[in-house]
Amino acid sequence: MTAASGVAGRAAVVCGVGAALPPHIVSNADLTARLDTTDEWIRSRTGIAQRHVAGADLSTTDLAVRAAAEALADSEPVPVEAVVVATTTPDRCCPATAPAVATRLGLTGIPAYDLAAGCTGFLYALATAAGFLAAGTARTVLVIGADRLASLPDPEDRTTVALFGDGAGAVLLRCGSADEAGALGQMVLGSDGTGADLIRAAHPGALHMDGVDVFRHAVDRMSTAAHQAATAMGWELADVDHLVPHQANGRITSFVARQLGIPDGHHLCNVGEVGNTGAASIPLLLADAAADGRLKPGHRTLLTAFGAGLTWGAVALTWPDLSLTRLPGGAGHDR
Ligand code: UT7
Repeated sequence: MTAASGVAGRAAVVCGVGAALPPHIVSNADLTARLDTTDEWIRSRTGIAQRHVAGADLSTTDLAVRAAAEALADSEPVPVEAVVVATTTPDRCCPATAPAVATRLGLTGIPAYDLAAGCTGFLYALATAAGFLAAGTARTVLVIGADRLASLPDPEDRTTVALFGDGAGAVLLRCGSADEAGALGQMVLGSDGTGADLIRAAHPGALHMDGVDVFRHAVDRMSTAAHQAATAMGWELADVDHLVPHQANGRITSFVARQLGIPDGHHLCNVGEVGNTGAASIPLLLADAAADGRLKPGHRTLLTAFGAGLTWGAVALTWPDLSLTRLPGGAGHDR
């Protein structure tokens, strides 16, 4: 499915970005101390050196609130009119995470809901938020990706436990025009339930993943979706400033970049420091790259993701000039 983000000139425009990571770091050395694995195996197969892991005192809601607060501090003060939280790991089956997140941000009374689309959740959430803005249902939407994926694998399963970390990222979207920096452009979303069993978890600690098949599907779906979104924008892939792939693992994202012909310097990556953080992965990487200046105003940016479901997607956007909207003395990117 492909869709433009807005109608009749209305577009969703990024006007703030934030992120939150738990302070506790689990290094590869911590894993090799208790499992039959090596730092070399984990790094060469996944590119991961460490991951941040939340303790019992830090919930998905807590991480989402911290990332969202940072995105709001990053933006001019505007009333938030809707909140979407993409997550596969809500604190409870019921109720959803988003109403609690909204209320803790002082946003009681507005629409707030969760969305589950595995590691593609953040892109699905951008699409639904863009729909709210295009329809005039809201003029600003806070989109949060928050996950505690480190809780999903069996702690004794050496094949999966090294892959995942916890975190949250958020962007604030406002209604704007398609030709301004920060506007979301073409979106491509898809799913295929015939692959539902390839990544599944009946409950925390019971993750099952068919790694080789997941790897193959992830490379194929992310490259194809990203190619479709760029082509629909009229972009040559050589003109893309930054590919921002879901940080599934470093080998997957390198294959995707290679398949698209996007060189290393134009392919953002932080999986080595945070692991696979699910729906938080793309906004965490956007916040990192915005903070250190790799993402500059007007940069052509191509987001792509793949996850359990199976689900996949891509979103093309130009990067905004956040210095125009940042509050003096805002929270910035300290975390
Ligand atoms: O959003 C999507 C999330 N999922 C992913 O990103 C995962 C995608 N899949 C992968 O990245 C890879 O399939 C893995 C990293 C999970 C595994 O790499 P692989 O090269 O596909 O390894 P494998 O499962 O085929 O296993 C190869 C060998 C096996 O030993 P034998 O049977 O060849 O003797 C495993 O037992 O590696 C062994 N192995 C390990 N050895 C040391 C598996 N895990 C480990 C480990 N340390 N942690």
